[in-house]
Amino acid sequence: MTVNPLPAGSQLLVVGGGYCGGRLGRRLQELGARVITTRRNPKTESGELAFNSDGGPVPSSESLAGTTHVLITAPPDREGRDPCLKALQSQLRQLELQWVGYLSTTGVYGDHQGGWVDENNDAPLEKLLRRSAARRRCEQAWLTSGWPVQVFRLPGIYGPGRNPMGNLRRGESRLVHKRGQVFCRIHVDDIVGAVMHCLALPAEQRPALLNVVDQQPAPSSEVISYAAHLLGCSLPDYQDFEAIAAELSPMALSFWRDNRRVSNRRLTQDLGYKLLYPSYREGLQGCLNEEGYSSD
Ligand SMILES: NC(=O)c1ccc[n+]([C@@H]2O[C@H](COP(=O)([O-])OP(=O)(O)OC[C@H]3O[C@@H](n4cnc5c(N)ncnc54)[C@H](OP(=O)(O)O)[C@@H]3O)[C@@H](O)[C@H]2O)c1
Repeated sequence: MTVNPLPAGSQLLVVGGGYCGGRLGRRLQELGARVITTRRNPKTESGELAFNSDGGPVPSSESLAGTTHVLITAPPDREGRDPCLKALQSQLRQLELQWVGYLSTTGVYGDHQGGWVDENNDAPLEKLLRRSAARRRCEQAWLTSGWPVQVFRLPGIYGPGRNPMGNLRRGESRLVHKRGQVFCRIHVDDIVGAVMHCLALPAEQRPALLNVVDQQPAPSSEVISYAAHLLGCSLPDYQDFEAIAAELSPMALSFWRDNRRVSNRRLTQDLGYKLLYPSYREGLQGCLNEEGYSSD
């Protein structure tokens, strides 16, 4: 999208100018939008606001005046609560918000043994990983907040500076394969693109729940192999998941627990969004073009 999708006179607050929030904020600013971004520890010269729900600074109502749109990128805190609802809600209630976007995760679908899921597939909370159940509760809190909320459900996010080529270059890649297991992913610029696509739609056409995933669920070993092919480097030794499972941390193991293919039909067909990177192939090539081909 090459035009600012926000209506004239609007101001976007990005709560959490990290990987996705930072990229979206910069893109909209390039297009002439007014954007305020928060970080937990903003750099002095950055112009960002300090916000840390965990006992840190909280922006004043005055500093948020004029905000009409909000994008939440902060994940649930250690107790599973939403940082923004916990610590910034009263300031937000003083604004006349036209749109609230919430970046969530496709983890809320749980395990489907490789089957397809769409936005209608609600999994019972007790079948979800703890962090995914917390996420579902945060989604629910936003959806019932009374604001016009859109939840964007995201799979593994990759893009420039965050992709398998970094680990391959550093010699830290592991080629683990689990029979039948696939992962879904999305390039960060398609998150930016999909959010902007929704902002450009009339409010009544914006779905409350939206999967933002690419076209091609695939095993991680396939993606790493393609990354090595692009870099022209050799692959690490193949490791069978079952053989190494015992040495993995509970956190690492949990990433291998859920197996599902997430449909992007609502995004690409119902809403007519055209993916910039339909699969990891175009996406990794795009990363390489932006990062450069050097080995450092
Ligand atoms: N990584 C993935 O593959 C993946 C997959 C699916 C969904 N997601 C979710 O998608 C969202 C965006 O991902 P991302 O990669 O852009 O995340 P990110 O780079 O970690 O950005 C998260 C932002 O939230 C801020 N934040 C975190 N905790 C906070 C708190 N307690 N109070 C105030 N601000 C807080 C961070 O502040 P600082 O900038 O100061 O750190 C950061 O700016 C996250 O909710 C993430 O969990 C991620």
